[in-house]
Amino acid sequence: MTAFTVTLVLVVASAGLLRWRRPAWYWLTFGVTLATIRVLVRYASVMDACGLTVPPSRWRLALARMTSRPVPESRPPRILSLRPTCTGLVLRLKLRPGQDAFDFAAASDRLRHSFSMYGVTSRELRSGVIELRMTGYDVLKRVQMPTRLDTRPMRILVALREDGSVHYRDYRAIPHALTLGATESGKSVYQRNLVAGLAPMDVALVGIDCKQGVELFPLARRFSALADNPNTAAELLDALVSRMEDIYQLIRAEQRITADVPDAEIAADIWDLPDHLRPTPIVVLVDEVAELALFATKEEEKRRDRIITALVRLAQLGRAAGIYLEICGQRFGSELGKGITMLRAQLTGRTAHRVNDETSANMAFGDISPDAVLAAIQIPAEMRGIAIAGDSTGGWHRIRAPHTSLRQAANICNRHADRTPDLPELAPFRPVLTGTSATPVPLSKAAPVTA
Ligand SMILES: Nc1ncnc2c1ncn2[C@@H]1O[C@H](COP(=O)(O)OP(=O)(O)OP(=O)(O)O)[C@@H](O)[C@H]1O
Ligand SMILES: [Mg+2]
Repeated sequence: MTAFTVTLVLVVASAGLLRWRRPAWYWLTFGVTLATIRVLVRYASVMDACGLTVPPSRWRLALARMTSRPVPESRPPRILSLRPTCTGLVLRLKLRPGQDAFDFAAASDRLRHSFSMYGVTSRELRSGVIELRMTGYDVLKRVQMPTRLDTRPMRILVALREDGSVHYRDYRAIPHALTLGATESGKSVYQRNLVAGLAPMDVALVGIDCKQGVELFPLARRFSALADNPNTAAELLDALVSRMEDIYQLIRAEQRITADVPDAEIAADIWDLPDHLRPTPIVVLVDEVAELALFATKEEEKRRDRIITALVRLAQLGRAAGIYLEICGQRFGSELGKGITMLRAQLTGRTAHRVNDETSANMAFGDISPDAVLAAIQIPAEMRGIAIAGDSTGGWHRIRAPHTSLRQAANICNRHADRTPDLPELAPFRPVLTGTSATPVPLSKAAPVTA
């Protein structure tokens, strides 16, 4: 064997190994070049085979006839650009007369096979121009977030979309959100990513975790207020409502509308206020929301009504006062009693992890998109963390958040603990940090509690 053959075998073997074990590295080393060549070489024939070409125009036919040239062939859309990315290729096409973006959306599965890519999605950029985003491998299998981020206040990166683009949670565009999913589907991990993303920002975090605080209390150092049972939650929500009312008073006092105030300076929400006056925005994270809506006794029913009323008021009026709701639960439908569907209607952002039945998926997307309902039901049980996220335009995406462990999230929260604002209204709910672990609670009969 010559040295050349040995090198070739080694290169092919390492490419194969990379492709199998580290698809992202394979893509960056070999995949991107091979795929670019493949797409460019096969382009015309693939477009033809997928029915995405247009027959020659009349004047071209007439010209060919006049000059007695052969009849011109059907033409595929013109390539405007082909851009390689860390996860795939982005192809921009100029449509020919008579084509529409729907043709490309309908053919995306055929294009995927023909170009030997992992996934192809298409979207219209502007009239006559579409973008085909192709991924070279399953980007959601092992989520790797890009390092270069486009950060803005109150907008955080939480997940990766299946087309390789990033999924932001933008509180100023979509103030309130609902995250649904069956047990063990990845809701708390998603919420943990939100906390980790918000921790470095100038924002107060408030948590209600009726699972006795097991999800949020480890992150307590970055939280301005925490509640681990429905009773505390009711008081905390009342305190938030009264803070919201105070903020509205502040905004009104600042408005001082007189004839000489230019329009642009009239404040209608906290973001219009000058920096030194602006109250800290608050994100309220609620895990296992159904716990707040369940009751067994008359007393509990009263508490439930108080909680739901406060949540509805925060959802209706909170945005301008900079109070944003982030609600997680397994189900969130009318069976939880009055006020729930009204609250749900206010939660614009919808994310559904794996659900067990269509009704649960309908709670997230029934009123938005039937396709998204179907996609949420089809999430396989073994792919935890995969979710369907609706966007403000009525479209939806398959997303997956990175697997942030509680330890990683706690480290991030501890690192940014000094950013935790002190809100006087919420002071009674500020988590007590002892520094030592709490006294162990005996659970098993084998370790009896002796008085
Ligand atoms: N994005 C993800 N990537 C990889 N694994 C994940 C992801 N999200 C969740 N998981 C896995 O799924 C497990 C359950 O996730 P999580 O605790 O978030 O579920 P949950 O929906 O909150 O469940 P419950 O309703 O019981 O609280 C995690 O321990 C983790 O192993
Ligand atoms: Mg959970």
